[in-house]
This record gives sequence, structure tokens and C-alpha cells, in this order.
Amino acid sequence: MTSVNDLRSSFVDYFARNGHHAVASSPLVPRNDPTLMFTNSGMVQFKNTFTGVEKRPYSRATTAQKCVRAGGKHNDLDNVGFTARHHTFFEMLGNFSFGDYFKDHAIELAWNLLTKDWGLPREKLMVTVYQDDDEAMELWKKIAGIGEDRIVRLGAKSNFWQMGDTGPCGPCSEIFYDHGDHIWGGPPGSPEEDGDRWIEIWNLVFMQYEQQGDGSRTGLPRPSIDTGMGLERIAAVMQGVHDNYDIDLFKALIGAAAQATGADINGEGNRSLRVIADHLRSMSFLIAEGVLPSNEGRGYVLRRIMRRAMRHATLLGANEPVIHKLVPTLVREMGQAYPELSRGEALISETVLLEEGRFLKTLGRGLQLLADETRDMGEGTVLDGASAFKLYDTYGFPLDLTQDALRTRGITVDQAGFDAAMAAQKAEARKSWSGSGEAATDTVWYGLADKLGPTEFLGYETETAEGEIKALLKDGAEVAALAEGEEGFAVLNQTPFYGESGGQVGDTGTLKGDAVAASVTDTQKHHGVFAHKVKVTQGSLKVGQAVTLVVDHERRSSIRANHSATHLLHEALRLVLGDHVAQKGSMVSSERLRFDFVHTKPMTEQEMAEVEDIANAIVLQNTPVETRLMGVEEAKESGARALFGEKYGDEVRVVAMGEPTSNGLGWSVELCGGTHVRRTGDIGLVSIVAESAVGAGVRRIEALTGKAARHRGNTHVAIVDAAAGLLRSGSHEVLDRITALQDNIKKIERELTDARKKLALGGSGAGAAASADETVNGVTYVGRTVEGIAAKDVKGLVDSEKKRIGSGVVTVVLKGDDGKGTVAIGVTDDLTARYAAGNLIKLATAALGGQGGGGRPDMAQGGGPDGSKSAEAIAAVRGAL
Ligand code: ALA
Repeated sequence: MTSVNDLRSSFVDYFARNGHHAVASSPLVPRNDPTLMFTNSGMVQFKNTFTGVEKRPYSRATTAQKCVRAGGKHNDLDNVGFTARHHTFFEMLGNFSFGDYFKDHAIELAWNLLTKDWGLPREKLMVTVYQDDDEAMELWKKIAGIGEDRIVRLGAKSNFWQMGDTGPCGPCSEIFYDHGDHIWGGPPGSPEEDGDRWIEIWNLVFMQYEQQGDGSRTGLPRPSIDTGMGLERIAAVMQGVHDNYDIDLFKALIGAAAQATGADINGEGNRSLRVIADHLRSMSFLIAEGVLPSNEGRGYVLRRIMRRAMRHATLLGANEPVIHKLVPTLVREMGQAYPELSRGEALISETVLLEEGRFLKTLGRGLQLLADETRDMGEGTVLDGASAFKLYDTYGFPLDLTQDALRTRGITVDQAGFDAAMAAQKAEARKSWSGSGEAATDTVWYGLADKLGPTEFLGYETETAEGEIKALLKDGAEVAALAEGEEGFAVLNQTPFYGESGGQVGDTGTLKGDAVAASVTDTQKHHGVFAHKVKVTQGSLKVGQAVTLVVDHERRSSIRANHSATHLLHEALRLVLGDHVAQKGSMVSSERLRFDFVHTKPMTEQEMAEVEDIANAIVLQNTPVETRLMGVEEAKESGARALFGEKYGDEVRVVAMGEPTSNGLGWSVELCGGTHVRRTGDIGLVSIVAESAVGAGVRRIEALTGKAARHRGNTHVAIVDAAAGLLRSGSHEVLDRITALQDNIKKIERELTDARKKLALGGSGAGAAASADETVNGVTYVGRTVEGIAAKDVKGLVDSEKKRIGSGVVTVVLKGDDGKGTVAIGVTDDLTARYAAGNLIKLATAALGGQGGGGRPDMAQGGGPDGSKSAEAIAAVRGAL
């Protein structure tokens, strides 16, 4: 038997041998299409290559592409479980020619693979061509050697292929396989074609046109080839089974599901087992790509798929979560071909288990309500919209789950009534919001959130994506376009730009489309709507346009590193300072990070060094940073750090980094919606640069990472080296040398002061000073003018003169460098009864143009603006003796 895994490689190898470049499957969430919900065929990643916008280094390619057809133009969700061949997730094998070969070689390659390499009998094959494609008709006859009786002409409905409402398209030719006359059905185009005997296995699309948004079609630069073969279908053919769900891969998944639920594979529950097996694949692949269950957009399609599977598990009697137990089987079957499954195994299991836990809480009561509401309803009746809405709103039943539950009983749901109930609830929410008194600018954003729904954020997974412009704002009002040079805000249906929140700044980057370009200088988030602050640099930006959004990668990388480092510092602070360290706020930009926390005293140098060491040890572990979705309570129980008082939704992203400690999740575990590095090593280096107080009991540390930390380190080293050069020392001696220099300077200053005092007293000898002594009225009087000493030293001079003369009056006037005069007067104790220094000083200061001055009877000090009048001041005191 040829296993699914063997067939996949056999296909790719065949085309690689025939000159095709083997290209990896692109993600399920398309990066290059703003309108497509999920990749629904192999050609999606080559869309722009067909139209000539994107150049690739090869003109032939082959892929095994993962596809989801649920939500959007190609939607098979409702049929899964009811047919032998519908899947929400499937793999499409394809070969592609970008202006290289066209119809003839495409037919030849396909025919040879099927009949030669894989040995399918020619008589079991038939083909269809587009009704007026005579060329294809002739080529089939010539190349495959089959007669016109085995070639059917069909109309556009089945033989014209397009990916979506826009994009490359063209007529196609399909190959059918006959599963044998034991199955009812007829060849394509026959009245019995809807039977299951003749099955389409391969579609060769002759890409010739591009479908435009306005409905017109333009020619492609060069005719091209796009083919698609469902791997599950061809596996059924090659394994001699009729039903896709009987191939080896599905047998394994269904077997695991039967074991987990205790259901009988051949019994009534087989349909439910198929649903579970199919949905397990789509949910796992989506989660592995970072899509998480939510109530909007892609996340909601995922939630619908998950809940549908869960209801079917309940139908099989499972009252406990079981779907998550099937993940290892899927990883075993498909993990080798798709390593993202193996890498994401833990995330997938945890996310599924979380959703199961949540839904099982209400599923039973919802089913009871549904049973009550429909007890008396028979086939062909319609369940009212209000009941279906109540099931949705109160019990978390997506509409299609309710429809699925009623389908076997032939009951449908009034969808218009359901939509009306939903609209009424939204209107209610709007009313209560408009009463909340928010600012006028916020009203605009609330209105947009109401009209457009939240923007889908793709930035955890990618920094580049296409988006469609849904609204433009200028000066706070909606506009249809922004012209070149104008500034405003752009809202798109999806974006890789992070909107400022949780302390992390918004992304910047560019926005480019057909003849239009704009720079994005900031991104904000209002009620779930991402507001890109734009300045149009070329052309004009219009609502409805599709544009490519590119986040400034280098800036975002620095932001990632700073955000992840904040988590590491948080945990390190707690370890070093104690459990009281609670986060009080943070700011993460591309340049630096700031983290505020509860702690009453300044951190010591040693504590800071320890914190930095611990954080950097985790950086060096270079372990992957893991993000999970968890219930808030569960997350908190696991020890994840949360911001106290912060309002979280039911489900939160939990970011773990570093080798796990006892919690099993990681060394640091935090509730966080920010963007982070892939591995801790990407942070490079954490360097704390400041520690300060921001309020009572709250401290702040600031830190740098990566390049910024290194640059700062380098700058500081350069400064030390330069200093060492000036000091003519080794850099490790710089501090000693500076201390020595400082000591030296102090010593020299002291000596200088002494020298100046001596100088001021008229040289070194006491005799020289004595020459200024005079006797006035029988009292020794010393009057001196000095320069070049400090004002504070004047008194000291007076004291030493008093000591020298033993009895008398001393006046010393300092002529300051600034021209002012400082004067001190001393009276020896034996004379204080006759002369009070406090009175004499007033005469001296008056002479210097000042007034006042004061002190004790034996010593007084004062000053005046005019130091040049020192002789007059001395004379004034003399006159008073
Ligand atoms: N793109 C074509 C299909 O999906 C091959 O059928």
C-alpha cells in the first residue's frame, strides 16, 4: 500500500525530476492576500508570480500545500461528516508553470505520472475540458491517446477556476477516476454525475486571466499552469478504497478518536468520528500557526470548527475533554511532513483542552435547551432565530453547530431571525456605550469598531502582510481618500502592526500598494481597531485599496528584545528583592525599557548587579520563548505573573521563557499580549542603566538590551580608555589614579591657602607684619588690606594678628577678585569694654559702600560692594579709637 506520506513525496519528487522547484507549503493564513481568509489551494502563494508582480528565481514549482476550506469562497465546513470527500483541512498537490510550459506539457506531465509512474489503468480515467477549449481537446487526444468519448466538454461552473473574487484564473481541465460499477454514479456531464462512482482527482488550470475587483478580466503577462490534486482523494484511489476517510492517515485518526471516546468505528457514530478526525487536522494546523479561538474573524472560524468537533465527541458519549488527547496521533502521522505541528504540539494540546473545558461547561445545558425547543418539531420545520441566538449568546453555540445538530432531523434555522437578534444586541451595546460620556474623538473609533469589528492582528506571526483599507480618517473625520502629503489614520481588516498597549509602543513601517505609498509613524489601538498613523508619500490612499504592510523590522526586533527583557528583570527582581516586588507599570520602546515595581528602598549596587546577572543567565540559556492561550484563573494558578487590578478577558496569552521551574511552564511566566523574541538569546544582553524612585514605595529601573546595551558599554569603555590615555596609566588603574590625583589636589589646595595667608600677612616673618602696627590713643592698632585669599579666611587672619599683638584692635579688609570688600575686626578681650567690634564694623562697611555687619564684641564681620575703599575702611576704624 502507498501511504499518504509516500504519495506526497512521490508527487513532489516526480515534478522535481521534471525540472520543478520543490517549494514548501505556505502558511494557512495568507500573507499575500488581504481578502482571503485561509489558503484554499496551492496557487495562493504564487498569486503574484502569475500576475508578474513578484519574480521568483524559478519558472516551474511543485508543492504539497496545506489548505483550509472553511469560511470564505470555498467553504466545506457544513458538509464534513456527511460525505466521503469533504474536508475542512486537506492537502493539495500541485505543479506550476510561470510562463514556462503551457497546456501541452501540463497534460503530458499529469498523464505520465498517473498512468506510468503510478500505474493507474487508462480505462479508469476520463477528462473534462472547458466547453470551447478545442486546443485542450486536441492535446488530450494526441498526448494521452484517448478518444473523444472519454473527453467531456463542460461549462464555466465546473471548468473555469478562480481563487476568489479577484486574482489569476482560467479555463481548466479535470481528470476523473472511475471507482467501479459497484458504486452508483455516472461520468461527468451525465445525468448521474452527482453519484460517487466517477471522482475528480486532478484539476489542471490553464491560467490566462486576472479577475479584477470591478468584474473585468485582463490577460496575464504569460499563460501559465496551476494544478491541484487532493492528496486524500488520490490516496484513496491508490489504496484501493472509495472513501477518503478510509485511507491510512484517517484510519489512524479515526482509530484514536474511537479509542478516546469508546465509540464503535463501524457503528452509528462513524459520522462523528469523521468530523472529529477532519476537524482535528484543521484546528491543529491553525493553532500551530498562531490562530487562536476567538469570537471574531479567523479565530471564530477556528472556534466553530473546534466546537463542532466537541459536540460530536459528546454525541459519542464523551463527557470529558477528549479531542486534545488525539493531538499526539496527528503529530505522529503528519509531524514529519509539517514540522510546525511537532513544534506546536504543546500549544495545540493546551489550546484545545482549554476550549474543551470552557465549552463543555455550557454544552450540556445548551443541548438540553435545544432539545426542549425542538421537541415537538418535525422534518421540514424551522427553528426560530431568537432561540438560535440564545444558544449562541448564552451557551456558546456557533450557528453552524446548531444547524449541524438539527440537520439529521431535517430541521433548519431561521438565519435572518438569528442575524436580527445579533444586530439588536449590538445596538443595545452601542446605546449603553454612548451613555458612558467618552470623548468625541473616541466616539469616532467606537463607531468604526462597531461598523468594522476588531482588526485582525497578524503580528505575532509575521511582520509583513497584505490588508484592505477599510477606513481613513483625517482631522478626526472619515474620508474616502488621503492625498499625497496628507496625514491621517488608516484602518485595515488585518495588520501585522502592533497597536500600542500593555506598555509596548506601537509599530512603525510602511504601507505600499498600486502606485501608492505611505509611511506609518505610529499605531494605536481603540476598541480593538488598529489605527495606523500614516503620511502619504506617493499617490493617494483610498478606502477599498489592497496594500502591503511592512513593519520596520529592526525597530520591532529591538522592541521584542526590550519586552522580553522586562519579563526577565521582573522575575530577577523578585528573586533578589523578595516576593513583594509587584509590577506597577512598564514602558517598552525600541530604545529602552522601564519597569516600575513595589520596593521601599533604593537598590544597592550589589542588588542591581545580581538582578542583571540573573537576567543575563536566562538570556544565555537561549531557550525558546513559548506563548500559550490559557484561562485567566488557570494561568494565575500556574503562577503566571499578572498586573494586579488589570482587567483580563476569559482567555489570556501566557508568555513563558527560560528553563521551567516547578510550574513546568518556564522560568518567567507572565500574562502578556506583547510581542517577544523567539529565543531568549535574541535579547543579546541586558544592561541596567538607572535606578530611581517614582513615588512612595515605588522604584524604577531602566535598562537597555542588545545593540543599545553593547553600544553603551562600548562608549563607556572608550571613555575609560581615553581617560587612561590622559592619565598615562592602564585602564584598570584609572580609578586609583583619579583618587590619588584628587588627594593631591586637596593637599595642594591646603598648602596654597596657607601660603596665601602668609603672603597676605606680608611675607613670612612676624617682623614684616609688625611694621603695620601703630599706636592710636595708647592702643595698638593693626589695619591691613589683603588680596587673593578666600572670604572665609579673613577672620582667621584677624585671629592670628590678635594673638600676635596680645592687646589691641585689628582690622583686615579683603579686596575680592570680584571687586567687593570683606572686612573683619577683632578687639582683644582686655579692650572689649572700651571698643565693641560689633560697632566698629559698621564704620568699616559704610566706608566700603555697604551697611551693617555684625558679630560679637571681640570679633565682627561685614562687607561692602567697593573693595577699593579698603584704606578708608581701615582709617574709619582708626578714627574711632
Ligand atoms: N487551483 C486549482 C484548484 O484548486 C488547481 O482546483
